[in-house]
Amino acid sequence: MITLSTILGLLPLLAAATNSTLASSGASAALGARACNQIAAVYPNDVFWPQSETFQSESTAIYSDTCILSPSCVFEPSSAADLGSAVKIIKAARSRFAVRAGGHMPVPGAQSVQSGVMISLSKLNTRRLNADKTIASIGPGQVWADVYTWLAPEGLAVNGGRYGTVGVGGLLIGGGISYFSSTKGWGCDTIVGYEVVLADGSVVEARANGEHADLFWALHGGHNNFGIVTRFDTKTFPVTSAYIGGASWDGKDTAFQTQFLSAFESYMAPGGGVDDPSVAISAIIGLTPSTGLTQLTSIQFAPGTDANPQAFENFTTLNAPVIQALPDAVLSSWTALPILLEQLGERGSRQIYSSVSFFPDPRAIRIANETVVELAVPVLSGIPNSTIALTYQPVSKDWLAASKASGHNVLDLNPELGTFIAGLLTVTWTEAADDVAVNLLVERIRRIRGSTRILPSVYA
Ligand SMILES: Cc1cc2nc3c(=O)[nH]c(=O)nc-3n(C[C@H](O)[C@H](O)[C@H](O)COP(=O)(O)OP(=O)(O)OC[C@H]3O[C@@H](n4cnc5c(N)ncnc54)[C@H](O)[C@@H]3O)c2cc1C
Ligand SMILES: *[C@@H]1O[C@H](CO)[C@@H](O)[C@H](O)[C@H]1NC(C)=O
Ligand SMILES: *[C@@H]1O[C@H](CO)[C@@H](O)[C@H](O)[C@H]1NC(C)=O
Ligand SMILES: *[C@@H]1O[C@H](CO)[C@@H](O)[C@H](O)[C@H]1NC(C)=O
Ligand SMILES: *[C@@H]1O[C@H](CO)[C@@H](O)[C@H](O)[C@H]1NC(C)=O
Repeated sequence: MITLSTILGLLPLLAAATNSTLASSGASAALGARACNQIAAVYPNDVFWPQSETFQSESTAIYSDTCILSPSCVFEPSSAADLGSAVKIIKAARSRFAVRAGGHMPVPGAQSVQSGVMISLSKLNTRRLNADKTIASIGPGQVWADVYTWLAPEGLAVNGGRYGTVGVGGLLIGGGISYFSSTKGWGCDTIVGYEVVLADGSVVEARANGEHADLFWALHGGHNNFGIVTRFDTKTFPVTSAYIGGASWDGKDTAFQTQFLSAFESYMAPGGGVDDPSVAISAIIGLTPSTGLTQLTSIQFAPGTDANPQAFENFTTLNAPVIQALPDAVLSSWTALPILLEQLGERGSRQIYSSVSFFPDPRAIRIANETVVELAVPVLSGIPNSTIALTYQPVSKDWLAASKASGHNVLDLNPELGTFIAGLLTVTWTEAADDVAVNLLVERIRRIRGSTRILPSVYA
């Protein structure tokens, strides 16, 4: 059995769920059916049963097939008040439930439920600017591409996800890595207000001051433990054009592999690109073990008009056969990148995410790669269509300082820890028969990371 509840480092990214919570039983099916019937009695048009087309589309609008379960019904509330009434019913019926926003958390049980009520936030998609356009109020049920393309004509952006298809809800309750994090902090750090449905069904406003100030604090990185957020109020800032560059190179040449990792190591070293708070990069080592393909990818972003940002100087000189190129140019709208990455963020086949954070010591960067490659290749070579990717996501000292300065982040990471790397491990595969082997592999990789300095987890 896989327990994902002890993920280090990337806690802001990954909500935890254990497979033990998924076991179905006759009792929970009866409680789920009771809750669904009682909600349907009040909101007949918003409850969808397994035979319906809406149930089919809503219950499967999930990124990883491993997370598609069989809820008793799907409830799609039109307002926070309706959701609050349903929460009261679910609680009284003692039914299980799950809340789905963008559906991108690849953890079984995170957004769906085996017998119980699946709450779809699809209709909670408010998009509203305040009078002076400094605050955007956004509903959780939309994806980042919707929010960005709505704000772009105003010349504004918000601190949200890097992939257009990711949901607003899950990203902002967990923390959030954005293109602007080195100046704005985690996605949640720019939030100034929440509308929340509490466990008693009441709908409250949580702000820095006032009755729910504690809830306001807890929601900055506290995941879905405190309520269901039905609206986020987040600060806007001006952004129009941006440099977008990088590529996915064929990494079969070992000399090129060394050059690629060296470029990243230099970027992460003091005085390297990571010290420029205006830019963002991800470096990805991707393998398809059954074919032997190695793809080395860099995704580079710098708002403004500089077509050759110095921060990326060691990446722009990389030279190997290109599998897929990014523009390497200044585009008039920065939204081009999250939209371009939609294809990478498409609903997948079967996916698992795991993460580990480490300091940017060159040895750690190499150990991370070697550990993953040496453990994964033998296992995944035998699994059809499987891929594994290790993404190095720099978290700069400026980012931690911006988060600290926001004054209310639950994670409370100390900027004096300095720049670190949020490493993300992703495996994709297609057959349910291979679930056990993949889960065991990821668990083994997670256990080995003791070989490097690890950031202490700030969660108990
Ligand atoms: C392709 C891809 C790209 C990604 N890119 C980024 C990135 O750039 N930056 C980043 O930080 N992360 C990124 N992530 C991780 C992503 O932010 C998380 O997986 C996030 O939880 C997804 O949110 P969602 O709404 O799409 O998912 P869901 O699966 O719908 O929700 C995730 C969890 O949050 C809960 N939840 C959702 N909305 C609410 C709400 N309103 N109130 C209470 N609980 C709620 C759900 O119950 C669930 O447990 C990426 C993931 C993928 C698969
Ligand atoms: C969850 O557990 C069940 C049996 O208890 C097992 O069949 C299934 O493969 C597990 N799923 C995951 C994703 O671990
Ligand atoms: C590029 O690499 C050199 C050599 O390692 C390093 O001194 C320099 O800081 C790097 N530049 C950036 C912007 O990362
Ligand atoms: C990653 O590790 C493997 C196995 O040790 C090695 O062959 C490969 O060259 C490394 N990749 C990079 C990009 O350094
Ligand atoms: C693997 O991918 C190929 C092409 O993408 C597809 O035709 C095939 O059905 C897949 N195999 C499995 C086992 O899913």
